[in-house]
Amino acid sequence: MKDIALLFFFCFCLVLVSLLREANAVSQEKNDGVYIVYMGAADSNHQAELMSSLIRRKKDAVVHSYSNGFSGFAARLSEAEAKAIAQRPGVVSVFPDPILQLHTTRSWDFLQYQTDVVINAGSISGSDNSSAKGADTIIGILDTGIWPESESFNDNDMSEVPSRWKGTCMESHDSSSFKCNKKLVGARFYDGSGDRSIRPFSTARDQNGHGTHVASTAAGNPISGASYYGLASGTAKGGSPGSRIAMYRVCMSDGCRGSAIMKAFDDAIADGVDVLSLSLGSSSGLEPAFSSDPIAIGAFHAVEKGILVACSAGNDGPDAGSVVNVAPWILTVAATTIDRDFETDIVLGGNKSIKGGGISFSNLTNSPVYPLISGDLAKSGDDDLSEKNARSCNPDSLDGKKVKGKIVLCDNHDGEYSLSMKVEEVRSKGGIGFIVVDDNARTVAPKFKSFPAAVVTEKDSNEILSYINSTKNPVASVLPTVSITKYKPAPVVAYFSSRGPAYNTHNLLKPDITAPGVAILAAWPANDTREAVAGQEPPLFNIISGTSMSCPHVSGIAAIVKAQNPSWSPSAIKSAIMTTAIQTNNLKAPITTVSGSVATPYDIGAGEASPSAALNPGLVYETNTADYLEFLCSVGYNKSKIKLISNTVPDDFSCPTDSSSESVSQMNYPSIAVSNTKENEITKVTRTVTNVGQEDATYTASIKAPAGLEVQVIPIKLVFTNNSKKLSYEVSFKASSKPKEDLFGSITWTNGKYKVQSPFVVTTNLESV
Ligand SMILES: *[C@@H]1O[C@H](CO)[C@@H](O)[C@H](O)[C@H]1NC(C)=O
Ligand SMILES: *[C@@H]1O[C@H](CO)[C@@H](O)[C@H](O)[C@H]1NC(C)=O
Ligand SMILES: *[C@@H]1O[C@H](CO)[C@@H](O)[C@H](O)[C@H]1NC(C)=O
Ligand SMILES: *[C@@H]1O[C@H](CO)[C@@H](O)[C@H](O)[C@H]1NC(C)=O
Ligand SMILES: *[C@@H]1O[C@H](CO)[C@@H](O)[C@H](O)[C@H]1NC(C)=O
Ligand SMILES: *[C@@H]1O[C@H](CO)[C@@H](O)[C@H](O)[C@H]1NC(C)=O
Ligand SMILES: *[C@@H]1O[C@H](CO)[C@@H](O)[C@H](O)[C@H]1NC(C)=O
Repeated sequence: MKDIALLFFFCFCLVLVSLLREANAVSQEKNDGVYIVYMGAADSNHQAELMSSLIRRKKDAVVHSYSNGFSGFAARLSEAEAKAIAQRPGVVSVFPDPILQLHTTRSWDFLQYQTDVVINAGSISGSDNSSAKGADTIIGILDTGIWPESESFNDNDMSEVPSRWKGTCMESHDSSSFKCNKKLVGARFYDGSGDRSIRPFSTARDQNGHGTHVASTAAGNPISGASYYGLASGTAKGGSPGSRIAMYRVCMSDGCRGSAIMKAFDDAIADGVDVLSLSLGSSSGLEPAFSSDPIAIGAFHAVEKGILVACSAGNDGPDAGSVVNVAPWILTVAATTIDRDFETDIVLGGNKSIKGGGISFSNLTNSPVYPLISGDLAKSGDDDLSEKNARSCNPDSLDGKKVKGKIVLCDNHDGEYSLSMKVEEVRSKGGIGFIVVDDNARTVAPKFKSFPAAVVTEKDSNEILSYINSTKNPVASVLPTVSITKYKPAPVVAYFSSRGPAYNTHNLLKPDITAPGVAILAAWPANDTREAVAGQEPPLFNIISGTSMSCPHVSGIAAIVKAQNPSWSPSAIKSAIMTTAIQTNNLKAPITTVSGSVATPYDIGAGEASPSAALNPGLVYETNTADYLEFLCSVGYNKSKIKLISNTVPDDFSCPTDSSSESVSQMNYPSIAVSNTKENEITKVTRTVTNVGQEDATYTASIKAPAGLEVQVIPIKLVFTNNSKKLSYEVSFKASSKPKEDLFGSITWTNGKYKVQSPFVVTTNLESV
């Protein structure tokens, strides 16, 4: 497991380096020194004054101004100017414009993994005429743009755009025409510069693929006959096919700028979206505080205005504490596999067959007639280090004479080089096939296009190795990939999915929920020749993985819940999705991680989102702006700062005197996290549930707690009537001895019809925060 963490770390570094390089290339003269001046709910006079005094001195300093959902601007400033502005009245914070990343594994070459028929989450659409189809909600997506001509976004059968929509379709500044329609109702882009001479080709058109993929996963039309060159064929369909889409292109080739993200939030709030979906964020390790986190700030104001915001949890798992986008007003989404596998079989001489993975359109024959060699036996040097490098097929490690015409077995557990560099080493030395040993990659279907290649587990590789040992002239073949459905077990937590606890508090459980994020098939820009298999047209659908892919599944579900319950707050919708989630897999056993251990709420939050169950939660846990402000108190903001952030603060608002990290546990969240539990000490939390089901209903609590933890719910029965729709209960936790590890369990309210489940975690050691 450690190797894998290293591998990820290494690869993320590569990505970072290249992003930064690119950024520097364009930005030296232009973007350097951009700061975000966040002014919370300050009135427009304050903002205008500050901006105009700046513009008087520096004509082109202002890059973006924010005035709809919140107040502030982004501008090119010197450090001294930034410091001075931070002292001005109405200013909450001033911070350097960060560059955030897409949460797709695509970044590290082949780990632009795999595919599948888009949404499982589409299982809600028993009939496409149902309310799901009619879910007339608007999902705003902050991403790399969109390919508007994709069939997934045609507007056949769409009704007129509702008049409440105030968005726009910005004209492209490149030669390609970009048109919105009744499905794709809005598109904006933020090039971070008013100066067209720097970015003359600004457009909302997707030149990456990520945004198109994400948008079609959230709300793409059902498209039958979708596949990736025949693989994973079926109907590709978004989570809420009836919803409309508004794209906010905040990511350019140099990453996703915080200043653009905040502008997109500001616009989306005014445009009238119902749900916002962000498949991007900081990398784990660069965790910003609220006052310098563009996503947390933008999402706070969006939620305040009734817009649900779903964000990806990040791809820095399986390390503990890697989850990002952890603000309590955000719905944070982890990733799991689906019940599809891409199987690439390897046939060994003697007719033994090994089930490999990965996606390869191999042209080798079915019989094992190709010589097989392991990398170490084909080393180019003759010392131990050469052997080690050759075993991994690292660059310049293989001897062409020994490799030519052969299938080469390579190890990928050292994590020093990427999969694509290893393939290239084999290919360039004349190898005709590639078998790579990598337990994690086996689970995410890396794409090898037409090069004969397969991924095997360490366990399976031993069989191949002993076969190579057992014979003088080992032979094999790699067969073309087939997609297998009803694969078990599924879901399994994706190994890359970022894990709890949250980096800034042990009193709020994150991630919130999980959804499919491995090998997802969804729409792709039609001109992406980089993704084309040799000699074929570029794919119209592509298979990739990441929490980037799981987030829009949940955004789609949220859009459907919102359509059915237009008056529900974002917190009620979030609660509905969380408390109805599923914790078991298709073997009727608990969901596990890749290593087979039972998944905890730090892996999957409340569980796998269930689109149909979320429509009927029975009870919901609601939180409001005041709760979030109290959260800010507990993380160190004082009353005067908080009054700057929100103008819905009542005059008599003050931070609770006992405000501390521990008071976060009292927020009326659909999950529970308590910390600092001491032996035999009782910790109590209160929750309030609102009945949104039938008027007269009696719910009974059941508790699942681990050994050594006493959990009590009082009262154990809640009786709702027409006159009592909101009822509270108290949970007390008592550990019989100081627990050595975090303890997990759940509290479930049932009335025979609905099941309302909340996970909990009890932690003891605050030191590790
Ligand atoms: C959906 O509606 C169309 C026409 O409006 C109808 O022909 C079709 O049978 C309906 N399908 C279902 C599953 O109700
Ligand atoms: C190899 O196995 C397949 C079935 O697994 C069988 O059909 C075939 O005849 C076998 N070939 C040899 C040479 O044993
Ligand atoms: C497979 O395709 C490659 C590249 O087009 C070609 O060089 C090779 O001869 C083909 N192999 C077979 C067995 O057809
Ligand atoms: C293969 O043989 C070598 C030496 O003969 C031995 O060290 C190695 O353990 C063997 N590997 C397997 C997988 O049997
Ligand atoms: C696809 O088309 C867009 C817009 O016309 C262009 O900017 C982009 O470079 C093209 N991508 C590829 C891979 O050709
Ligand atoms: C609130 O905190 C800020 C710094 O974050 C400080 O400058 C200010 O004086 C504080 N206000 C009060 C009323 O304590
Ligand atoms: C419940 O109360 C509402 C008004 O609060 C009333 O309109 C409705 O008829 C009541 N239902 C029952 C079953 O008493």
